[in-house]
Amino acid sequence: MRSVFLVAASLGLTAAEDGLAGWLRYAPLDESIASEYSAPTTIILLNATENSPIASAGAELEAGLSGVLGVEAKVAEGACDTASSVIVGTVGSYQEACGDLPEGAAELGEDGFWLSTEGEDDTVQIIGQNERGAIYGTFEYLSMIAQGNFTKLSYATNPAVSVRWINHWDNLNAGGSHGSVERGYAGPSLFFSNNAVVSDTSRIKQYARLLSSIRINAIVINNVNADANILNDRNLDAIAKIADAFRTYGVRLGLSLNFASPQSVGGLSTFDPLDQSVISWWTRKTEDIYKRIPDFAGYLVKANSEGQPGPITYRRTLADGANMFARALKPFGGIILFRAFVYNQLEYSNRKADRANAAVEFFKELDGKFEENVVVQIKYGPIDFQVREPASPLFANLPTTSMAIELQITQEYLGQQAHLFYLAPLWKEILDFDMRWGGEELRVSDILTGKRPGGKTVARGGFAGVSNVGMEKSWLGSHLAMSNLYTYGRLAWNPWDDSVDMLHDWTRLTFGLDDEVRDVITQMSMESWPAYENYTGNLGVQTLTDITGNHYGPNPASQDGNGWGQWTRADRNGIGMDRTVATGTGNAGQYPPEVAARYEDVETTPENLILWFHHLPWTHKLSTGKTIIQHFYDAHYAGAETAQTFPLLWQKLEGKIDDERYEAQLYRLEYQAGHSVVWRDFICRFYNRMTGIADELDRVNNHVWRIEAEKMTLSGYSRANANPSEAASGGTAVTAGGGGGTASAEIPFDSGVYDIAVGYFDVSNGKAKWTLSIGDEVIGEWQGDVESRISKATSNGLDGHSAARKLFRGVTVEKGQTVKVTGSPNGGEGAPLDYVSFQPEGILD
Ligand SMILES: *[C@@H]1O[C@H](CO)[C@@H](O)[C@H](O)[C@H]1NC(C)=O
Ligand SMILES: *[C@@H]1O[C@H](CO)[C@@H](O)[C@H](O)[C@H]1NC(C)=O
Ligand SMILES: *[C@@H]1O[C@H](CO)[C@@H](O)[C@H](O)[C@H]1NC(C)=O
Repeated sequence: MRSVFLVAASLGLTAAEDGLAGWLRYAPLDESIASEYSAPTTIILLNATENSPIASAGAELEAGLSGVLGVEAKVAEGACDTASSVIVGTVGSYQEACGDLPEGAAELGEDGFWLSTEGEDDTVQIIGQNERGAIYGTFEYLSMIAQGNFTKLSYATNPAVSVRWINHWDNLNAGGSHGSVERGYAGPSLFFSNNAVVSDTSRIKQYARLLSSIRINAIVINNVNADANILNDRNLDAIAKIADAFRTYGVRLGLSLNFASPQSVGGLSTFDPLDQSVISWWTRKTEDIYKRIPDFAGYLVKANSEGQPGPITYRRTLADGANMFARALKPFGGIILFRAFVYNQLEYSNRKADRANAAVEFFKELDGKFEENVVVQIKYGPIDFQVREPASPLFANLPTTSMAIELQITQEYLGQQAHLFYLAPLWKEILDFDMRWGGEELRVSDILTGKRPGGKTVARGGFAGVSNVGMEKSWLGSHLAMSNLYTYGRLAWNPWDDSVDMLHDWTRLTFGLDDEVRDVITQMSMESWPAYENYTGNLGVQTLTDITGNHYGPNPASQDGNGWGQWTRADRNGIGMDRTVATGTGNAGQYPPEVAARYEDVETTPENLILWFHHLPWTHKLSTGKTIIQHFYDAHYAGAETAQTFPLLWQKLEGKIDDERYEAQLYRLEYQAGHSVVWRDFICRFYNRMTGIADELDRVNNHVWRIEAEKMTLSGYSRANANPSEAASGGTAVTAGGGGGTASAEIPFDSGVYDIAVGYFDVSNGKAKWTLSIGDEVIGEWQGDVESRISKATSNGLDGHSAARKLFRGVTVEKGQTVKVTGSPNGGEGAPLDYVSFQPEGILD
């Protein structure tokens, strides 16, 4: 047995891994570590019925103890004090089988558990308040073992909130012409295919396991922009099978509803929430669902927002709408999460108009009007998952209403998993924010746990995370992005958990116990938010992306001049939204008085939100003594510099993690390093042109190490304008016709060693090839295939989404040699080329 284990252990280090196991790999520990632990050899399950979470806990223990320690523990009958055993049960089954509960296990809350690893004769106890708690405790024990943590301890733990949900924005027509997962960047839906619910649940069980291990207790599988056909009998039958798969791991199922369903699929002439026929329709539909799924968690509803139907269509209130569902669900113990993301299109010319005001305007007056099983689901900030937002003021405006925070695990606006972005620090900043509600300390995390001013509490609160994992083996496309899914669950259980501690646990579970692996991933992850904020949008101005397009690459012009309200109000004199009460939209006044006063005054507004709350001249001086425009330039340069370090840091891990995950992540980090320069150049050019204010360091539009493609000697290539023009160096690129092209130039720089960067465009409707050569020597070849390697949003145009950069490090060149790029077009991709840059050591041109 031991020798087999040793062979497996040595193989385990190099075996390719595709990421499917996430943080539940149960990878073998080094023998030197494993041998410190006398692991249980018997698994005693109390009342394990087939497909129950307790039975799953048994299977996980077998797999985990075997994988991590090489111990082939077996599920067996046994008395409660069997030596060398791990016993798993609920409070009820434990009392029945074993008598008195251990002292600490006596007062567990819903879904809580007791874990003790310090029993006599190497026994371990895992006791859940319910079956869900029991499997949570099992995963916790296995997490410790997998990290080589054999500390003897006993403790009870309970969730901070009862609503710990995942939302999916998967479309029923996934695989059809309308795409598959809204804001999903990792392949098609796990749940839907060709206008139907999938019948193969094997992948879904693997997902259920991951979610259970982070203590998620419910999942909504379809998009909030809901297709009413989800509710037909055939789909509900198939959804019941999905619910069965999730139930095995203690995860309940919920559904998003289309408010107009009674009319669009129910044959009624109305969907008025106060109409008796509509009420009856929903009541019957809800009964139908509970017949199939007795533990159905509830509904999620987006109403009267972004074109979705809702109660306001009939001049009913949003509360009337929410309560209709709440009453239908109440007899079965279900709840409704009702989204506060409700806003209308606005007039740009109206300086008082503000989308950030919408949630409070719609919901504040409804406080006290919701049924007890309604939870208002509030995006963390007042706009929409931007790189920096203040906490939504709505959190401090609903004293008697249950509230959940909506977080986005999928990286819409935040690099779409093509860029590294560890989200926990951003989430923590919101959760830790003190609203000073009622003049007392009341953090957003407190509010979510039901605390209200004056020591009052309301029943529920929670977390909803938009996860949007897809069929790609790695779930989120990027291996490193999985830390976001993991820490989301950790924070929903305990919002006071620490970003670095959580990351350390995740790193050890995902990539092993090597300290350098942990340190490198921690460094990169903790720098990822400040770096991305630096090269995308600063000082609270929002992510300066294409908000009317795909929310990926740079396009600040798209923010303003339309009805969407994600405005920066930038012009040649100044930038920022005046949200003060005195002269602006009044948004600052939606916060409790102490916070409102802080945001009202430029001097006391935190600098990282200064443009969120104030419209300021470009020459306004920040605390560093820099002007706003100079800060923009400097931050963009600094952010892109930081992104250049990520692939180099990652390369330190070669051989320390398996090649498959190493290479896949390296590709993304190299891509990000290039795209961060695209962002930097685009944004700096845009505001430089708008303001006419030069960069003090003269970097903007002054790329002394670049040879612009349009100025090279071209054969088969001709000029092509980028749109927006800021996407190309010098405003112009070149593309080749069907026969291909070459662009060549004499190298004007001194002989020496350079990092050669090639700016090009990787559009999505072709896979062109480029070859870079110096003299007769081919330096490198690459393909424009990012669209099939990273499923971020793509584009067919020469713009900020397609602009990319390829780097060849340490190339020796001689002055006067010829640099040549040969482009071989494919499909609609004319091998577009922007520039070639010869960067001396230490220069990022
Ligand atoms: C455990 O299973 C036994 C035998 O099936 C049953 O009598 C008992 O009620 C169950 N206990 C609990 C707490 O479910
Ligand atoms: C082991 O796990 C316990 C419980 O999670 C934790 O408190 C402790 O810090 C861990 N020890 C180490 C060395 O990581
Ligand atoms: C972000 O930009 C600021 C301002 O230039 C700089 O001080 C800071 O180091 C940068 N941080 C990162 C991580 O790029």
